[in-house]
This record gives sequence, structure tokens and C-alpha cells, in this order.
Amino acid sequence: MSAEATREKWDRAYSDASEREPEPAEVLADNAHLLPPTGQALDLACGLGGNALFLARRGFKLSAWDISPVAIARLADLAGRLGLEIEAQVRDVGTMPFPREAFDVVTVSRFLARPLAGPIYDSLRPGGLLFYQTFVREKPAPCGPCNPDYLLAENELLQLFDGLRVLFYREEGLVGDLTAGNRNEAYFVGQKR
Ligand SMILES: C[S@@+](CC[C@H](N)C(=O)[O-])C[C@H]1O[C@@H](n2cnc3c(N)ncnc32)[C@H](O)[C@@H]1O
Repeated sequence: MSAEATREKWDRAYSDASEREPEPAEVLADNAHLLPPTGQALDLACGLGGNALFLARRGFKLSAWDISPVAIARLADLAGRLGLEIEAQVRDVGTMPFPREAFDVVTVSRFLARPLAGPIYDSLRPGGLLFYQTFVREKPAPCGPCNPDYLLAENELLQLFDGLRVLFYREEGLVGDLTAGNRNEAYFVGQKR
């Protein structure tokens, strides 16, 4: 899909989205005890910015990037009303360069662009943390994208970020009782050494 088509698709989705405040991804909310006391953070492909708002409330200085001008306008508006400082920018992360060693925390939720693994790694400061959560191919529920290009293969986050120290990883596949557990996504927290 072209960048223009992607932008239009997500602009449409966010124009229709509810006014409710967006939630942070589970991988961030459930592992928030791993966060440093403060620092510079990036919410990549932020959408309405649930991760950015969560981190800004904790005192992080936030950059939030997304290709959708509608999402970025809504996030900037909500952050302003909440008195939170978030530098929300319209960016096609597939083409715009990433700053090196700029962030103490990077969050990515429900977005997968494999060529960005290197730039994401390079954008972390030494000691910096990556919180990543997205859909897997081996999932019982028909949620998330259908195109396997946008779904993780088995253990793929571990491979994409094998330079990071693994602090948390969860991926259950179709093993055991499918009525229990957390099946549709993989969850990863890693630290740059
Ligand atoms: C499923 S949404 C996830 C949004 C948010 N991270 C969340 O968890 O709610 C995927 C997001 O990726 C963004 N996106 C897709 N391609 C992008 C690109 N090339 N550059 C920046 N953002 C992109 C979309 O606009 C959309 O907001």
C-alpha cells in the first residue's frame, strides 16, 4: 500500500474513532515498573497516542509520530486539554530518518515494519528500553491485519531485536487451552546494553 493510501485509510479510521481517551498498550501498562524515573520517549506509529499520554503523565518528554494527520491532530488537542507536553508529529516513519541514541524509551504497539528494527535499535540510548507489542500469525481470533506481512512469525520480535537484553517476552501461540491466556499478540520489553 502506498504512503498516501495508508494515510487515507488511517485518517478515515481516526475520524470515526470514539472520543474516549486512548489506553496504553498492555506491554507498557503491565511492565511500567521497568521504566526509568524520567527521560526522553518516543511513541512510534502512535495513532491516538495511548502510550504517549501514559508516559507524558509519568513525566517523560514525549515525541509521538504517525503518518495520519487526523490522529496527530487529535492527540495534540487532547494533550493540550490535559496539560501534557507531547511533540506530536506527522511522519512517515518508513522514509524519515531516525535520530541516533535519542530515546530512553521507545514504544511500538500494533505496528510492524521490519526494516525499522535497525533504526529503532539505533535510536535507543544505552540502557534505553523498547516496549513492543503486535499481532502474531499464529492467533486464534480474527483480529488485527490479515496480511501475513504485517503479522509476526514465531519468536520474531526476539530475532528482530536480538541485540537487546530481554526483560520480558510473552507469545503463547496455539499451545494448550485456547480459551485462556493472551493469544493474539507478542509482547516484548528489551534493554539496550
Ligand atoms: C493499528 S494502529 C496502532 C496505533 C497505536 N500504536 C495503538 O496501539 O493504538 C497502526 C498505526 O500505524 C500508523 N502507520 C502506518 N504506517 C505508518 C507509517 N509509514 N509511518 C507512520 N505511521 C504509520 C497508522 O497511521 C496507525 O496509526
